[in-house]
Parts: sequence; structure tokens; C-alpha cells
Amino acid sequence: MTPAGTFTDPFTVPLARLRERTSAKWRHYDADVLPLWVAEMDVDLADPIREALERAIRDGDMGYPGSTPYVEAFGSFARDTWGWQVDEARVAPVQSVILGYVDALIELTDAGGEVIVNPPVYPPFFQYLIQADRAIREAPLGADMRLDLAAIDRAMAEATAGGRRAAYLLCSPHNPGGTVHTREELAAVAELSRRHGVPVVSDEIHAPIVYPGATFVPYLEVDPTGMALHAASKTWNLAAIPAALLVGGPEAAGFDSYRAGKHHSPTHLGVIAQTAAYNEGRDWYAGLMAGLDRNRLLVRDLVAEHLPGVSYLVPEGTYLTWLGFGDLLGDEPAYALIERGRVALNNGPYFGTGGARHARLNIATSPAILEEAVRRIGTVLAQG
Ligand SMILES: Cc1ncc(COP(=O)(O)O)c(C=O)c1O
Repeated sequence: MTPAGTFTDPFTVPLARLRERTSAKWRHYDADVLPLWVAEMDVDLADPIREALERAIRDGDMGYPGSTPYVEAFGSFARDTWGWQVDEARVAPVQSVILGYVDALIELTDAGGEVIVNPPVYPPFFQYLIQADRAIREAPLGADMRLDLAAIDRAMAEATAGGRRAAYLLCSPHNPGGTVHTREELAAVAELSRRHGVPVVSDEIHAPIVYPGATFVPYLEVDPTGMALHAASKTWNLAAIPAALLVGGPEAAGFDSYRAGKHHSPTHLGVIAQTAAYNEGRDWYAGLMAGLDRNRLLVRDLVAEHLPGVSYLVPEGTYLTWLGFGDLLGDEPAYALIERGRVALNNGPYFGTGGARHARLNIATSPAILEEAVRRIGTVLAQG
């Protein structure tokens, strides 16, 4: 245990060592670019996860995954973290969160059918579903980056016109910007879902990363017909070895039909790592949250001081923050930032309607790197 008021900061990996990483974050751009884009954190693995993976490699434990310990570990984490009593009989390991929601939405809609999303939102909410022959209907967030219930109501009515089947893919907490939906908002979504007969799939991959002042509410607590996706992969930085969990509400018909089909399983190493994360990675997680909470407020202060005219939505959850550049750098500000500032953010328009003139900034790094990133952005703005 660490003494009260102190924490073990995971954001201490030196830049020189980060630059040795071969992941997309560190290799996609030239070596002089500071990468603050894709959802990867600049941390080392939590010790219990590293030890579990080392053990598996040493022992040649390289087969297909079992599922019970993973599901139980998630159930215990959900109980302890959110007070959520998950029915473990209705939890299915899936290959990844993306493939989990795509498969779930395929169960709930027909070819050519519509899936409602709330842009600006995580770009794979569009691409993979279009590839699976589903159409996307946008119900954009309000200017405050919160759910617009009237827009969702309209979208559900239009998507089901003529008796067609449609579904709604919710991002909870929301990426980008980190809005944490309240119980009242989610209950209103559940009511719309019931009224229009549009089932909800809730992507809750960022659920553990919620800051003081906000509370994550599992969607299935307000809607027994919904399905949710969970994973430890964002919180413990495990994108390299995918695994995720599809949770079916007690009345989720789509979950039963999903179960009846044949699907790819997660990676065994992903299951091992996430099981260790949920069971033994909780001290590390406490340090992560303290570090991210410091970072989100640091960026608020840095933006206020050095980036006049730029808006920053202090996130309630996630480490994927949202900067608004107004008229300063055109519709796609990330281009100027990379070309002239050598700092890589995600360009807003990729997130759909409402994304123009914005960029997504990943704050899961050291304070020194955040300070340097803001300095570089400030240099571009000063050039006009
Ligand atoms: C909202 C959301 N869903 C899913 C994913 C990716 O999940 P997976 O790698 O398990 O497919 C991310 C990654 O950043 C995400 O932000």
C-alpha cells in the first residue's frame, strides 16, 4: 500500500524508451513527431500481468483459451468497482470489443439494416459495420458532447420505418471526450429502446476509467434487454493481445442467438493478461487513475494558459480528450499540428458529424510529454 496522498505513477517511462516501441503509436509517424493519437498508454505493464504472461511463455502455455477464470475475474471486478452483480452465466468471451459488437449487431439487424451511433464517436463504430453490410444512422451528440435524446428518438423512428429491424450502438463512457452518461440519461435511452423496439449494444471498454465527480452506470442495470461489451484492454494497456467479454441482459434475445452461433475466441494470452488485471492489477489501476486525474487537470491548465482560442472538454472518463480549435486551423486541425508542430493527434472529422475543427488528444502519458505537446501546439497557433 502507498501512503495516503501519494500514488505509484505509471507515467514515468522515459521518452527514449518509448521511442523503441514498435507499436503503431510509435512507428506510424517520423521519429521527431510526438505521438498522442491512438488509444495506447505510455506505461509499462502492471507487474502481476507481466508475471502471468512470462509464466505462460516459460511454460509453453500457448493453447486455446479457457473462459471460467476470466469471466469470474470480471464478475468480481464489476461487483467491487461498480456494485454490479453480473450474471456470469450470461457472459461470453469474444475475440475483441470491436468484433464483439459487430457480431452482436449482426444478430440484431438484417443486411442493409441500420445501426444508430452518436458522433463524434470512435471511428470503428462506422467502418466495421459498413463492411458487415449495415448502414449507419447518426444521432449526433449535443454541443455539450452529451446524448441528445430527441435526436436518438428521431433516429430510432426513422431507422425502424416500415418495420425494419435496427439497433443502437452506445459508447459508454464516450470516446472521444469522455462524457460519462448519467443513470437518468441511460434510463431515457432504455425507454426509447423499448418504445421503438431498437435494442441497445453498449461498448463499455472505458468503464473503469471514470474520474471523481462522475459515476459509471452499467447499461444493463437500466435495461434487461441490452448487451454490453467489456474488456481490461484499455485500462491495463493490453491492445496487443485482444480479448473481451459480451454481457447479455437477462432478456437480451440477441445474446442467446449470438451464443447459438460459432465465433472466434479471444487470444489465450489476452485472457491470461486480463484475468490477472482484474484480479491482481488493482493497485496498479489505482495509480493509473491518480495519474490520469492529474493529467486531465494539467492539460486543462496548460490549454488555458498556452492555447488561447482552443477549447478543452475536461473528461469525466477515458484518457481520450477533445480539443476544439474553432477557426484557428481549418476543418482538420491535426494536419497542421503534425506538419508544422510535429505532434500527432487524431483528426476530428474521422469521428463523424461534429468532428470538424476538433482533434482528439490522448493524455495517457507523462506530464513532461503533455507539456511539450501543448508547447508544440502553441507554436503552430502562434504562426497563425
Ligand atoms: C470505444 C472503443 N471500443 C473498442 C475499442 C477497441 O477494442 P478492441 O481492441 O478490443 O477491439 C476501443 C479502442 O480504443 C474503443 O475506444
